[in-house]
Amino acid sequence: MFLSALSALFYLSSIYVAAGASCACSSVTIPVRVDTLVPKDVTDIYGGLKSNASSLRPVNATYDVYGVFCRPDSYFFLGVLQLLVHGFTYDSQYWSPPVEEFRNYSYAAYSCDRGLSSLAIDWVGVGLSSRPANSSDVQFLSCASAVSQVARYVKTNSIVPGLLPFEKVIGIGHSAGSGLLNFGAITEGAQSPFAGLILTGELIVQSGEIPPLSAAPPARDVDPLRWGALDPGYITSLAGTRSAFYPPNATSFSPRMLQFDEFTKDVGTVGAYYQILSNSLATNYTGPVAKVIGSEDQLFCVGTGRCANVTALTAAERVVWPKAQRFEVVVSQGSGHCMNLDFFANGPFNTFVHYVKQFTGIPL
Ligand SMILES: *[C@@H]1O[C@H](CO)[C@@H](O)[C@H](O)[C@H]1NC(C)=O
Ligand SMILES: *[C@@H]1O[C@H](CO)[C@@H](O)[C@H](O)[C@H]1NC(C)=O
Ligand SMILES: *[C@@H]1O[C@H](CO)[C@@H](O)[C@H](O)[C@H]1NC(C)=O
Ligand SMILES: *[C@@H]1O[C@H](CO)[C@@H](O)[C@H](O)[C@H]1NC(C)=O
Ligand SMILES: *[C@@H]1O[C@H](CO)[C@@H](O)[C@H](O)[C@H]1NC(C)=O
Ligand SMILES: *[C@@H]1O[C@H](CO)[C@@H](O)[C@H](O)[C@H]1NC(C)=O
Ligand SMILES: *[C@@H]1O[C@H](CO)[C@@H](O)[C@H](O)[C@H]1NC(C)=O
Repeated sequence: MFLSALSALFYLSSIYVAAGASCACSSVTIPVRVDTLVPKDVTDIYGGLKSNASSLRPVNATYDVYGVFCRPDSYFFLGVLQLLVHGFTYDSQYWSPPVEEFRNYSYAAYSCDRGLSSLAIDWVGVGLSSRPANSSDVQFLSCASAVSQVARYVKTNSIVPGLLPFEKVIGIGHSAGSGLLNFGAITEGAQSPFAGLILTGELIVQSGEIPPLSAAPPARDVDPLRWGALDPGYITSLAGTRSAFYPPNATSFSPRMLQFDEFTKDVGTVGAYYQILSNSLATNYTGPVAKVIGSEDQLFCVGTGRCANVTALTAAERVVWPKAQRFEVVVSQGSGHCMNLDFFANGPFNTFVHYVKQFTGIPL
């Protein structure tokens, strides 16, 4: 009773008082109904966005989306939630990996310390969220729909007892998770539930830039003990290949993090593997957008020359966001593709917090 009255007070006044001293996290499960059309051909790189009716089929199902919700214990920006969306073959742990020797890998903790709540979810088909028996139900259309529904849910429902719904949700994605948010921005445009988007580890993908599917074999072949029962459309990375997600210079990250990464990797699907290419299509999203990419990102920057000139990169990326209220690109010096997992993590974290505040009107 007291708590909710207090919450209501802060919520109405929207005043930030002081940074929270500690952070409370809990697991939540959010039910979503996905009722959409997906391409019959999962290798359709536009994920059905350019398809005619005869090449689509319905997916109509309810899924449980698992997430870790964290909020500062005491004073915080009550109306604002960061919805954190991991990349391909990762899960919600990407936002708070429990590797101990370097304690600053957790963006959930970093942003909580600065007064911001977050909800890190697992994609449908991944981690502790519902895993459809048929991997071809897990495509960008169905997954992006689930992510948008989670955003709508937290704006209309109390996520934990005693807390009011959130007023503004900022989507923060990593890699293919940025691709999912991007996809939702294409399908929903001005109707998007997100007050702003922060897309990390993702630039426009050109056809030809996706490695052959042999780089991501069926998960059941890679680890039969863990994934032997999955349909072969659930895929994962080949053993020993994840250093590509780190800066080339091995002094930039902990070898223990790389081990943890390999050990805790998860699955993706063939559909999601190809449909990241949909981010070359224009969106009518009207909110503010920031992209954050690591200068040492081996998928997008190293050896491409693409990230050397931020002005030129911004102009190139902006083309597909013509209606965005504002659009910026930050090249984070030293960071690799998984910019949360190397020794430079605090740089991008500071940038994410900056944009969350700016996009929601919190004083910087
Ligand atoms: C619909 O798309 C399929 C696959 O791209 C194509 O073969 C077919 O000709 C299209 N049909 C119409 C009516 O455009
Ligand atoms: C999807 O399923 C729900 C519940 O069974 C049903 O009410 C709804 O009409 C279905 N949607 C379509 C497009 O058939
Ligand atoms: C971790 O973060 C704290 C507070 O932001 C900072 O003081 C400390 O130097 C960081 N540690 C490392 C190893 O970067
Ligand atoms: C998955 O669903 C698709 C589309 O309905 C179907 O063609 C395919 O046979 C199914 N795969 C399995 C393994 O059931
Ligand atoms: C890697 O980074 C370290 C520390 O900044 C530097 O001393 C070393 O020369 C770099 N190695 C290479 C191969 O660039
Ligand atoms: C965006 O708006 C333009 C102009 O109104 C329209 O032609 C286009 O189809 C829209 N794009 C999407 C993806 O809805
Ligand atoms: C960076 O790109 C901009 C826009 O294309 C160009 O005007 C500028 O000269 C470039 N700067 C450098 C240092 O190449």
